[in-house]
Amino acid sequence: MERIKIKFNGNEVEVDSGKTILDVANELGIHIPTLCNFEPLAPKGYCRMCVVEDRGALKASCVTPVAAGMEIQTDTPLVKEARYINLQLLFGERNHYCMYCESSGDCELQDLGYEFGLDHFDFPPYERKFLVDNSHKFLTIDHNRCILCRRCIRACSELAGHFVLGERDRGFNTMIIADVDVPLGESTCTSCGLCAQICPTGTIKDKRAAYLGKEVQSDIIPSTCDICPLGCGINVYRRSGSNFIIKVYGDWDSPINGGVLCKLGRYSVLYDERKRLLASKIRDDFGYRKIDFDGVLKIARSRIGDDAVAYVDGSLYNEELALIKKVFGNNVYSINPVEPPIPSSTDLSGLSKAEGYIVIGVDLNKDYGVVGSMIKRRVLGEEKAKLFVVDDGFNSLTSITENVFTFKDIEQAFDKAKGLKDVVVVFSALSDTIRDTLTKRGELKYLWLPFETNTIGLIKNGIKYEMKSGKNVFFFGKDHKKIRERFPEAFVICATPFEIEETEKIDLLIATKDGFEREGTFYNLEGKSLKRNKALESEYNVIDVIDLLSELSGKTKSEVI
Ligand code: FES
Repeated sequence: MERIKIKFNGNEVEVDSGKTILDVANELGIHIPTLCNFEPLAPKGYCRMCVVEDRGALKASCVTPVAAGMEIQTDTPLVKEARYINLQLLFGERNHYCMYCESSGDCELQDLGYEFGLDHFDFPPYERKFLVDNSHKFLTIDHNRCILCRRCIRACSELAGHFVLGERDRGFNTMIIADVDVPLGESTCTSCGLCAQICPTGTIKDKRAAYLGKEVQSDIIPSTCDICPLGCGINVYRRSGSNFIIKVYGDWDSPINGGVLCKLGRYSVLYDERKRLLASKIRDDFGYRKIDFDGVLKIARSRIGDDAVAYVDGSLYNEELALIKKVFGNNVYSINPVEPPIPSSTDLSGLSKAEGYIVIGVDLNKDYGVVGSMIKRRVLGEEKAKLFVVDDGFNSLTSITENVFTFKDIEQAFDKAKGLKDVVVVFSALSDTIRDTLTKRGELKYLWLPFETNTIGLIKNGIKYEMKSGKNVFFFGKDHKKIRERFPEAFVICATPFEIEETEKIDLLIATKDGFEREGTFYNLEGKSLKRNKALESEYNVIDVIDLLSELSGKTKSEVI
């Protein structure tokens, strides 16, 4: 990159030619107000709050590249007046009466009002009333609060890859729309919620978070999503001094998801309707009776021995798995399959550079939303990468490609992808036939999406998918379906957070912590060890699996990890 000389507030500086004026100001520590600009979105120059003066001319600094000979002034009377008028226009265009807005205190427009000392409207406030779109399960759009910064549109396409939000009409008639202007709840929105996370005003809001607390009233706990094995970085907003979560945001700085989340990562923990096990219970001839931690320990200890087998699922963290192995030795098995049909030969950075994708038998929008975003933004964005979907059932990815094949015709997908330099095959489970077909194709790169959050941790711990019987069968995890059916004669002990139908057939039920009540590490699909931080205290009479296992093994988690 060429180095050039410019003047910045009277001082000569040497800068890289490809940078914008705003980039250089940030490097020099010079404050320029911005509103529509938001890294990592491409700058567009919509709001004009960032204007600066260059030899008498006003320029939007976020979109203007530096050029040799520029003489940038960031604080002249002309600059101040232009920014002030622009801000007045933004406030005047729609309903920005902060005292009636739920986002008051969490609003970048309001922050600028304070910065510029706005104490009145210079222009008559715009009186036209706009629609409030309340049709979506998780989101609401109040168009009266919109400043047309289009951050939502850009985030929906450039970052999340969904391309649902757009705009219609021009000037102050411009409206943010979903698809071809249908209510958001009837659109193809995948409910990733990124638009609400990035909206600078009170226009797009997470419904559940409304009225629960502002950012300044929150403890922001950095953590990792543990819904799937991707391991997206998240920030959990917990109301300060309280024990409830206001909202979950994607971490803009996460190298995995860069702020993007899927519906499951953002909302599933907050809208979890599964029935919690509220206390541990032992079954006897008269039914169930509650049992305390000491009682649980006594029974569990009496059942551990050579005739005991432990089953686990991939919801367990590495520390828990290590302690389970201490207690049960090699008698630990996975209740679900763990082995990849074909091991991955690329990673997420390989995925984000590919020219073509063959997605086999997995609906990414549904089960691995952020992997879907990574692919969709390249397929629907400027890169114009090619997408091939191979599936026999419903797969929502088929709506964005013409290249759709059944399993039987998978060879046609490979033929069509021929000629593309870099093709990644993405899959989770595969039939033996498809696996054999794939292994013959050495030129392809594979990305396996493991079945559960910590499937890789199970593999690293040598825990295999096998059905071994024992007189006493223990289960640790969430997915204890069919364990009684599989071991009808055994004494079955389940340490689990939820009640399911089968719960009533278990001999000892140990109610455990779940969600943000737990903490620990797990391996994501790339084999990176990620930390899930605790954000809630449990309000139920439940046991931390780590405490239970420490008592049973006589070891602490730091002694085994
Ligand atoms: Fe530069 Fe909006 S921040 S135009």
